[in-house]
Amino acid sequence: MPYTGRAPDLGAFEQSGDTPPPSAQRYEAETAPAVCQGTIDTNHAGYSGSGFCNGDNAAGAYAELTVNASVAGTATLGIRFANGTGSVRPANLLVNGSTAGTVSFESTGAWTTWTTKTMTVPLSAGGNTIRLDPTTAAGLPNIDYLDVGAMAG
Ligand code: GCU
Ligand code: CA
Repeated sequence: MPYTGRAPDLGAFEQSGDTPPPSAQRYEAETAPAVCQGTIDTNHAGYSGSGFCNGDNAAGAYAELTVNASVAGTATLGIRFANGTGSVRPANLLVNGSTAGTVSFESTGAWTTWTTKTMTVPLSAGGNTIRLDPTTAAGLPNIDYLDVGAMAG
């Protein structure tokens, strides 16, 4: 690549200034092998991909996605959801079957208003299941996708 910097040319160690930072990997809730205990719906605009998971209104009606990590470590998880009710819809977050935290999916004001909740979770190298398991009879909010960001550690 052409050298454009002012510091000494580091030759083989230089990187292009155009190299983007490692971007998050997106996993859509409607794409296999994801599991949606409910229906894949398209009736609320603003979702990504071809639909979103409308979980059944029941405790334990989960959405589960399988994400890949090249190395074991801590990853940032962005969970995009919409909650058009006035009530919070809490869920346990399980990674490979173990509880890794709880998520309180607050009201977003409308089913067409989508927002992203960020969590940090431990991932193993290879495939990892991420399950959102609602703890109240209201079930999950509508789930659009998971973004898995850069690993640390
Ligand atoms: C409405 C809405 C659904 C949502 C559901 C719920 O029916 O249209 O998208 O999933 O409420 O309360 O969970
Ligand atoms: Ca629902």
